[in-house]
Order: sequence, then C-alpha cells, then structure tokens
Amino acid sequence: MTNKYLDKHVLLRNKDIPNIRDINVYIAHGGYDALKKALTVMNPGEVTQVVKTANLRGRGGAGFPAGVKWSFIPPNVKPVYVVVNADESEPGTFKDRELMGENPHQVIEGIILCAFAVGAERAYIYGRGEFKNTFVPLKKAIDEAYNNGLLGKNIMNTDFSMDIFLHLGAGAYICGEETALLNSLEGYMGQPRSRPPFPAAEGLYAKPTVINNVETLSNVPPIILNGSDWYRRYGTERSPGIKIFSLSGHVKNPGNYELPLGAPLRYLIEELGGGTMSGLPIKGILPAGASAPMIPPEHFDVMMDYESMAEANTTLGSASFIVMDETVDMAWAAEKMVHFFKHESCGKCSPCREGNYWLEQVMHRIRSGKGTSFDIDLLTKITHQMTDNCFCPLGEFAVNPINATIKHFRSDYEKYITL
Ligand SMILES: Cc1cc2nc3c(=O)[nH]c(=O)nc-3n(C[C@H](O)[C@H](O)[C@H](O)COP(=O)(O)O)c2cc1C
Ligand code: SF4
Repeated sequence: MTNKYLDKHVLLRNKDIPNIRDINVYIAHGGYDALKKALTVMNPGEVTQVVKTANLRGRGGAGFPAGVKWSFIPPNVKPVYVVVNADESEPGTFKDRELMGENPHQVIEGIILCAFAVGAERAYIYGRGEFKNTFVPLKKAIDEAYNNGLLGKNIMNTDFSMDIFLHLGAGAYICGEETALLNSLEGYMGQPRSRPPFPAAEGLYAKPTVINNVETLSNVPPIILNGSDWYRRYGTERSPGIKIFSLSGHVKNPGNYELPLGAPLRYLIEELGGGTMSGLPIKGILPAGASAPMIPPEHFDVMMDYESMAEANTTLGSASFIVMDETVDMAWAAEKMVHFFKHESCGKCSPCREGNYWLEQVMHRIRSGKGTSFDIDLLTKITHQMTDNCFCPLGEFAVNPINATIKHFRSDYEKYITL
C-alpha cells in the first residue's frame, strides 16, 4: 500500500515499478494502452468528453478543467498546437521534474492523447533551461517513442501523425505564465500577453493552442484507460482525482507524495513528512510556494482540495507545501519572498515593477532596524495599491507573503521597530 489514501501510484508509478522510464518496462506495465484505445476505438471528441467528465482540473495552479479547455479549440482552424508547460519555477515545486525524469512515457502518452483530442500535429514542451538535466531522460524517451512508431508519421499504423519538440527557455519565473511562455517560445521577450484573446483562440503563432501542465497531461492516460467514473472515485466531488504534493522545508521526510485531492494536510505533514526535524511546533506552512497566503496553525487541519483551501483563505496552486517551524522569523521569510518577486517581475507594468521594488526597500528598512511602526502600515498600503492593478497574476501573488505574515505574525515585524 502506498499510503492510507492510495493503494498504488497512478502518476509516480516509478515509485512502484523500477526503471519505468525505459519504454519496454513502461509498455510491459500497460504503457501506451490508453493511446491504442483512443486511436483504435475512440474518436477525438470522445477523448475530450472522457477528460471533461472526469473533471480533471489543471495542475499548473489555476485548476481550470482540462476537458473544457480542449473543447474551446475551434473545429475548423488549422494548425492547432499543444504546448506543455514544463517550466516549474514555483519555489518548492518539484513534481513535474520527477514525472519527466522518472516516468517520462506517461507524460508523452498524455501529450499524444491531448494532441489527438484537439487535432494537433505538433506539440512543444517548454522547459526551464537551468534544469536541463531533467530533460535528458525526457529527450531519450521521446527518441524511444519515435523509434517505436509512437511519434511521427502514422502512429500505431493509424492515420494520426504528430511530432513533439523540446524547447528550453533561459529561465524566468514569468515564463511559466502561459502567455509569457508563448512569447518566449516564439523568440520574443517573456512577458505576458493581454487576454482575451485566450490561447485556445489565438495562441502560439496566433493559432488555436492548448496549454497544459506536465502533471495535468500525466493524468490523461489512466483516465482514458480506466474511464471517468474510476477517476472520480478519488478526491472530492468538485476536486476529483489524484494529485502530487511536493513537501519541503523543516520536515523529516521531504519529497513528492501522491494522494487523492481532499486528503488532510496534517496527514501529509505528520504521517508522510514525519513532522518537523527539530521536533518543534510548526509556525506556518506555505501551500503553493511563494504565491499563496501562508497557512497559520488554526488551519493545519484543512483538506487539500481547491475549495477547502479557498475556505482557509489561501489556494492550492501547484500544491508545494513548505513547512516552517517556530524558529523561523516570518519577517525574514517575507523579505526573501519579496526579493524573489522583485527579481522575477518582468517589468511590463508599473504596479508590479515599482510595487515590488518599494516593498523590498521598506522590508529592508524594517529588518535593518531603521524602520518605524508607520513602515508596517506602509507595506500594507503598497500591497493595496498593487492589488487588482497588475497586468498579470505574478504581481497579484507578490503581495501574499507580506499580507499573510503581517496578519498572522505581526510581532515578528514589530520586534525590529525601535525608532
Ligand atoms: C507567474 C506565473 C507562473 C506560472 N508558472 C507555471 C509553471 O511553472 N508551470 C505551470 O504548469 N503553470 C504555471 N502557471 C500557470 C499557467 O499560466 C497556466 O495556467 C497553466 O500552464 C495551464 O495548464 P493547466 O491548466 O494544465 O494547469 C503560472 C502562472 C503564473 C501567473
Ligand atoms: S504583473 Fe509583474 S510580471 Fe506581470 S506583467 Fe506586470 S510587471 Fe510583468
């Protein structure tokens, strides 16, 4: 048994089956059976419908239903592209890396199924150049798929043909945002585009494009093979299915854990993570890297699904849980995160570009003992000026570390105020 909530891995099958990254091992364990089923007994619309009924929600952060997104692709416009978001730049998130490095054929099978469903003949995987070692096994797996007639012309001797291209960017957090990613893929500066038009209407090279996260697509083969009813047996009504949770920080057993959505956070931290290394109580938990408001102790019993996390005033996002024990100075932690956002701001709009700059300046003033109590309120004021005024969600995320730590751990700021 994998854990109390899951009897065997669905995504991280590498944990159960040694060397599943090898195509022969993958095939010996049912690999590419879903693709065979889709290409031989289903039509593209049926594949989309199964994913829609399963209510597979995007695992890149926003949780938008994948099948609904696929159905937005206009039927009569060609070419259509699939773009795989393998950027994974959120601090503390390392699930896509394990999927691509250890179970890459499941990612590839998911991409081919998506392309078949939306009528695409080309898919681009956009990865982060700094993590280039991750992409070595993926590239090898793509080559194996070509050599076995699973990519290229007439896949599995059917009429369906497609190619996959691997593209590594130079490394920027904003290039995980889907429209900045498209700009970067086209060779332009990685800055977000206005939406609408959404990528389904005008995406890569202004053509209809589906963009999905690596983990989202890894869910597709088991869904097609086992059906939507099987998938919906896991998780909750509104957040069905399986999810990988990346656990890091002050826990004894960091790593990727696969659980149904809606599993308790406390189970992940205490049972799987083994609690804190120090044995000290936990002070706060970041649920989605730096992007989402920190969870204070009163919400440590929250269930890890999209709705329950929203009720706890935070978001599930990419589900990268960073645990901080009570030795952590939350003003210090917030300063680190502000520095990250200032560094990663693409500079296109002034609320984010200027706001993050000033947040860092004021944080620095407070932490170096030169701030006044007015400066804590000034931080809040700057975050108010940024909220709902930024061009893309990066600027909106950036205020979360400050607002949540001031709200829950104000004394960590006040101890620096001596003037
Ligand atoms: C600043 C920012 C960074 C993002 N980084 C990533 C990322 O690294 N990987 C990812 O899959 N989605 C990321 N996203 C979300 C994407 O914009 C998009 O929602 C996602 O690729 C859609 O795929 P999904 O529906 O399968 O989740 C990011 C969004 C923002 C605003
Ligand atoms: S919010 Fe930040 S990252 Fe987004 S467009 Fe504006 S400057 Fe760029």
